[in-house]
Amino acid sequence: MEHLSGERILITGATGQVGGPVATALAPDNDVVAIARFGDAAARDRLETAGVTCVPVDFEAADFDALAGDFDVVLHFAVAKTNDFDRDLRANVEALGFLMDRCASARAFLHCSSTAVYEPDGHHRFVETDPLGDNHRAFGFMPTYSISKIAAEAMARYGARAHNLPTTIARLSVPYGDTFGWPLFHWHMLSRGHAVPVHADAPSEYNPIHLDDIVGQIPALLGAASVPATIVNWAGDDVVSIEEWCAFLAERTGSPAAQFAPTENTIASVACDVTKRLAITGPCTVGWKDGLARMAAALSA
Ligand SMILES: NC(=O)c1ccc[n+]([C@@H]2O[C@H](COP(=O)([O-])OP(=O)(O)OC[C@H]3O[C@@H](n4cnc5c(N)ncnc54)[C@H](OP(=O)(O)O)[C@@H]3O)[C@@H](O)[C@H]2O)c1
Repeated sequence: MEHLSGERILITGATGQVGGPVATALAPDNDVVAIARFGDAAARDRLETAGVTCVPVDFEAADFDALAGDFDVVLHFAVAKTNDFDRDLRANVEALGFLMDRCASARAFLHCSSTAVYEPDGHHRFVETDPLGDNHRAFGFMPTYSISKIAAEAMARYGARAHNLPTTIARLSVPYGDTFGWPLFHWHMLSRGHAVPVHADAPSEYNPIHLDDIVGQIPALLGAASVPATIVNWAGDDVVSIEEWCAFLAERTGSPAAQFAPTENTIASVACDVTKRLAITGPCTVGWKDGLARMAAALSA
């Protein structure tokens, strides 16, 4: 895998589940500047201890005047999930436009999107040209999420062309690592003996992707940045169901076999075809069982 070094990197969302570990991983070999609101002082401390320069910015205001200098690459992981359409469209879409204006001289811009942009279609393996739709609204929990992620993709497409800024729109599936992700959430449910919600149209299938591969694939994704923007599923090599990964995790929690609560009121399957990503990044290095076994070992330590 390629390795980023000697780059001036702007990363947004660096206090988040995904952006945090990515910023920390890149900091030793690059000049990493993070923007977020930094309401969580401990998260800011962790970043600064790792050598990341933190600059407070609220995407709802989208005022980037506090940022100094130019950036070689931008990694845009920030996402607002206030459930208020006006606020989330402002932070996730309008602010992205202003960010691309500000960073128009970068050699590449990576916009982290989500497979939440796909119109639900049962157990279809989604390719990048498939119809878009709202697969989070039925969930009830994040009504603005799919729509603002779709709108953000449109803004990223515009920004790429308006500024001739090579851009990759990477649709992340289920990211996880030792300290974050949906499987970790399920681990805690299983440890407490709780039934895990799954979609009634079983099994609930996704493509989990380990943090090592998220970090490791960033150089290739930046290398694939183009005008118009490259759009790619940022999804692990294997389609794995919640039912499969919970059964695997339950064995490691020492608790009884995983119990499930089938419902229509949760996210349906979003399994991806990863042919395009494989051509850009090559295969993942962490298989799902290895990655989850590592997570389980870390949680049990
Ligand atoms: N986690 C998943 O399962 C998953 C799956 C698919 C795709 N994704 C995508 O992956 C990316 C990272 O997701 P995540 O789960 O790491 O998100 P997260 O944990 O919710 O973190 C969100 C980040 O956005 C920042 N942010 C939110 N509102 C902001 C505002 N108004 N101004 C400035 N920064 C703001 C937060 O920083 P402050 O609060 O400090 O401002 C935080 O760093 C997102 O693009 C998401 O759509 C995630």
